[in-house]
Amino acid sequence: MIPNHCGLATLVATLLFPPLATALTPAAEEGKLLYPACHVCHNPQMDPPLGPPMWGVKRRYQNGTLDERDFVVSMVEFVKNPSLERAIHDEAVAQMGLMPPMPLPDEMLEKIAAYIHEAEFPPPCDHWKIAVNRAIQRGDPGHAKKDQQMLERFCKA
Ligand code: HEC
Repeated sequence: MIPNHCGLATLVATLLFPPLATALTPAAEEGKLLYPACHVCHNPQMDPPLGPPMWGVKRRYQNGTLDERDFVVSMVEFVKNPSLERAIHDEAVAQMGLMPPMPLPDEMLEKIAAYIHEAEFPPPCDHWKIAVNRAIQRGDPGHAKKDQQMLERFCKA
C-alpha cells in the first residue's frame, strides 16, 4: 500500500506546530465578550495610555500565582477593590494612578479574568513606541531605554 504522505505531513506539522490560538473554556468565551469593559483603558494603542497593556499585567500575575484558579482569584480581588497594598504594577500606579474599582458582579469578573488567563495577547509594540516618545519628551532617558529594550526584544519584525 502507498503511504499517504500528504496526511502524514499534515499530522507531523500539527504535532510540531500546534495552532497558537487554543480553544477557550466556556467561562473564558463569556469573559471575552465582557473584556471590552477593560480594554477601554488597557488598550495598548492609547496615547497617553489610560492603563497598562494587559500583556504585561498578565505576565506579572502569571509569575505571582500558582494556577488559573489562583490567577483568577487574585485578579478579581484587585479589580473589585484596587489598593496600593495589593497593586503589583508599581510603575503603572506611579504613572497613571491606582485603577478605579470595577462595579461588576464577581461572576462576570471571574469570567473576564479567566479570559485574560487563557487569551494570547500580542506584545504591545505600539504602547512601547508611544512610551519611548513620551519618555524622551519628558527628559527621562532611563524609561526611554527600558521601553526601547522591550521593543527590540519582542517586536523585531
Ligand atoms: C478607567 C480605566 C481602567 C479600566 C476600565 C480598567 N482598568 Fe485595570 N488598570 C487601570 C490602571 C490605570 C492601572 C494601573 C494602576 C494600578 O495597578 O492600579 C490598572 C491596572 C490593572 C491591573 C494590575 C494591578 C496591579 O497589580 O497593579 C489589573 C489586574 C487590571 N488593571 C485589571 C483590569 C480588568 C480585569 C479590568 C476590566 C474588568 C480593568 N482592569 C479595567 C485602569 C483601568
